[in-house]
Amino acid sequence: MAEIRRPDDMVRITTPELAQAFIDEQIALVKEQVGDKKVLLALSGGVDSSVVAALLIKAIGDQLVCVHVNHGLLRKGEPEQVIQVFRNEMNANLIYVDAVDRFLDLLAGVTDPEQKRHNIGEEFINVFAEEARKLDGIEFLGQGTIWPDILESEAGIKAHHNAGGLPEDLNFELVEPVRILFKDEVRVVGEQLGLPAGMVYRQPFPGPGLGVRCPGAITRDRLEAVRESDAILREEFAKHGLEGKVWQYFTVVPDFKSTGVTNGQRSFEWPCIIRAINTTDVVECSVEHLDPAFMDHLVQRITTEVDGINRVLYDFTPKPPATVEYE
Ligand code: XMP
Repeated sequence: MAEIRRPDDMVRITTPELAQAFIDEQIALVKEQVGDKKVLLALSGGVDSSVVAALLIKAIGDQLVCVHVNHGLLRKGEPEQVIQVFRNEMNANLIYVDAVDRFLDLLAGVTDPEQKRHNIGEEFINVFAEEARKLDGIEFLGQGTIWPDILESEAGIKAHHNAGGLPEDLNFELVEPVRILFKDEVRVVGEQLGLPAGMVYRQPFPGPGLGVRCPGAITRDRLEAVRESDAILREEFAKHGLEGKVWQYFTVVPDFKSTGVTNGQRSFEWPCIIRAINTTDVVECSVEHLDPAFMDHLVQRITTEVDGINRVLYDFTPKPPATVEYE
């Protein structure tokens, strides 16, 4: 099949009308490409895969099989949101795979950041391939490839994972309906497809998920402290009008403990680090300076509501010299 490229004179999709025209065009193209065959899609709940899912549901209905792998490193409420939006509201053919124990057992004791990333990526493909092999009649693989992925892979910056790095016997033809779009266009299309704003305009979230925010060897209790503190931070940012204003914000719970006083008793617990940054290209980032009273409130909530945390720290370091994530 000839490589589909973004036309040089393509008008940037910024309005519901332009988005709808794009959706109609893609629905026709997908129908033509797929016919009456089935398409498999790994649906993480991220912007790109969610928009592809919503578009393919419109185009081919239950010929689309979505697989959502819960690897235990997702944020609080994410698997539930995927099920709610796609299975309950959009009637998607959705396979939910609870692979939490499998991933956390595999990652137990693994301290090296690159090894952790590698294990998470490889196990994801193993789980997805297992699900794919259980299904009959799949000929296509849906992918949320976007135009910057193509440009970056051509520039040698990023390896473009053709067919998601699946084993060779799973030789699917790709369906990439948002391939010629920039990220901002994908969001406009997603909104037009009826996806919730919280899903379409969400902050960037790395593939290895909370795994890289639980530095060193991941333990279930420390991972829960990351998940709970992250949920509080997101809730408070939303309440204070910072959602959609600050580029990326999250918590990290490092693998060391310090002394404190909890309920009149000496405690020995983890600190929780808050990171909130702004950027345009993620090559350089500045730190969002929070209102001191708001910081006090965050400290109060996190230290009282999250098990195992007795201290909250704020990271004032820009990128460079620091990176956004901790590993
Ligand atoms: P760093 O930490 O490199 O992060 O300054 C820059 C941006 O990339 C995200 N990030 C990742 N995304 N897989 C991803 O999909 C990863 O392994 C990964 N590491 C970092 C990070 O969240 C930030 O937006």
